[in-house]
Amino acid sequence: MRRVLVIGATGLLGQYLMAVGGEMGLEMQGTCHRTVPKDGADHLSMDITDPASVIDGLARSEPNVAVLCAAMTNVDQCEREPVQAYAVNMEGALNVASACRQSGIRMVYISTDYVFNGLKGGRYHEFESPDPSSIYARSKLEGERVTLDTSRDSLVCRVSVLYGWNRVGGKGNFVTWIIDSLRKGQNLRLYNDQFVSPTYAPAAARDVLDLCARGARGIYHTSGPDCLDRHEIGLRVCQAFGLDASLTSPVSTADMPLLAPRPPRSCLAVDKAEAELGRPLTDLRQGLMAMREGEPRGSR
Ligand SMILES: NC(=O)c1ccc[n+]([C@@H]2O[C@H](COP(=O)([O-])OP(=O)(O)OC[C@H]3O[C@@H](n4cnc5c(N)ncnc54)[C@H](OP(=O)(O)O)[C@@H]3O)[C@@H](O)[C@H]2O)c1
Repeated sequence: MRRVLVIGATGLLGQYLMAVGGEMGLEMQGTCHRTVPKDGADHLSMDITDPASVIDGLARSEPNVAVLCAAMTNVDQCEREPVQAYAVNMEGALNVASACRQSGIRMVYISTDYVFNGLKGGRYHEFESPDPSSIYARSKLEGERVTLDTSRDSLVCRVSVLYGWNRVGGKGNFVTWIIDSLRKGQNLRLYNDQFVSPTYAPAAARDVLDLCARGARGIYHTSGPDCLDRHEIGLRVCQAFGLDASLTSPVSTADMPLLAPRPPRSCLAVDKAEAELGRPLTDLRQGLMAMREGEPRGSR
């Protein structure tokens, strides 16, 4: 693994794959779509729903490995626009997988804890059967399947509720939304019946690239190791950033319904990745501490 193409390099995970890969001494090339990167990075333009654009991007960058982060990630928007969700998350993955196979490029597909229905009551392992409950999750599961069906060398890494500072685009994430809202003194109602495994994007980027460098293939869970409900995550963010926890209150999904169904407990077991990497994955406390220490100037 020498040259890596990050498809969707302006997204939260994509920007950290670019940064961490550079630190690891890899030759990194990114792609952008609509977002113009704030950091002036020289990305290739690529639309994964257009096979010609994908083939052209791969031919120009000639990577050994292509990491597909690009996706339609807004879960409720996917529910409203299912055709577009499948076009990006399933057909886009198929376009990338086919072009990679044609050119002998190894593919890494980033997926989600939402492929599980969340009804088991415990953490999910890689060998357990998915049962997605939303359009987003179904289209992502199809993306996994086309990736794994196209080449047995492919790697699928599932993450859950990504967080970290977004230094490239303007889009927030669950943790930065909590920080921004509470700093403005806004009250927040946070779900206490949606349990997830919050994933620090810079740590996940390193885990994905390390797994790839070790030749891992098949499915790996590369989320954080915790299993916490969203209100509890909010309380921990308050603690880490010295914010007023009394502005947060717990709410149930039944009391504040969302358009797309969410799994009640989609926490991921990460022991397979930990065993392969020989180290524990980054938990929420460590991720929040790293965020506090690395807060960009002028973000307050
Ligand atoms: N965010 C989470 O909490 C979470 C949880 C579990 C799994 N995941 C998965 O993790 C991956 C990374 O998520 P993220 O939050 O880092 O993503 P993100 O910040 O929402 O970024 C998505 C990226 O995809 C690009 N993109 C969208 N449509 C495209 C298209 N048709 N062609 C090419 N690029 C396109 C976007 O570019 P433009 O904005 O310019 O269109 C952007 O760079 C995704 O596969 C997601 O499904 C995310």
